[in-house]
Amino acid sequence: MIKIAPSILSADFSCLGDEIRKIEKAGADWVHIDVMDGNFVPNLTFGAPVVKKIRNVTRMFFDCHLMVDHPETYIEDFAAAGADQIVVHAEATKHLHRCIQAIHAKGIKAGVALNPASSLTLIEEILPDVDMVLLMTVNPGFGGQQFISTVLPKISRLRRMLDMAGLRTDIQVDGGINAETARQVVGAGATVLVAGSYVYGAKDVNAAIKSLRG
Ligand code: DX5
Ligand code: ZN
Repeated sequence: MIKIAPSILSADFSCLGDEIRKIEKAGADWVHIDVMDGNFVPNLTFGAPVVKKIRNVTRMFFDCHLMVDHPETYIEDFAAAGADQIVVHAEATKHLHRCIQAIHAKGIKAGVALNPASSLTLIEEILPDVDMVLLMTVNPGFGGQQFISTVLPKISRLRRMLDMAGLRTDIQVDGGINAETARQVVGAGATVLVAGSYVYGAKDVNAAIKSLRG
């Protein structure tokens, strides 16, 4: 089953609660929450206090994508704010295993993310310990960028690595996902699709989400 995780990065922040209810009604599976610190990526978004507030409007699964340096320092706050999953970049922490353990110790799911240019070898040893791997299909920092198609063989390679290890771990993709690229990434082995501008920029959000399911 493919899960659709619209990114609220492309939502109207002046009415975030309504924007989340809109995707919930349209049948989205998760809410993808992009946290940026202006250091790991050249952009700023929001932190745990915003997550805590929107926790009051829905029981949907909160997928928190931390594009921040030293993600270990924020685990406590995001878990307390109501994150259901915290995803950290392998490039952002010196102690990835410790970081994943700290997330699981909060009783929530843990994912690891890789930028387009980062090799799968960075996460090979952590695969048995994570609930999800996020392969970025754009360079993180902004919504509305173009899908980087060279990530497609990387998705297939990761799916093969997981199969060989007997793991059924979710592979999430994030960046430039629309109906067409959704077909390609699902064909390569992705199971969770993040889409920001494609969903929130659509006239008909229901139709947009349905089109991502193929
Ligand atoms: C990029 C973020 C994405 C972004 C995707 O740094 O991690 O989640 O919102 O936006 P689209 O779907 O517009 O490429
Ligand atoms: Zn994201």
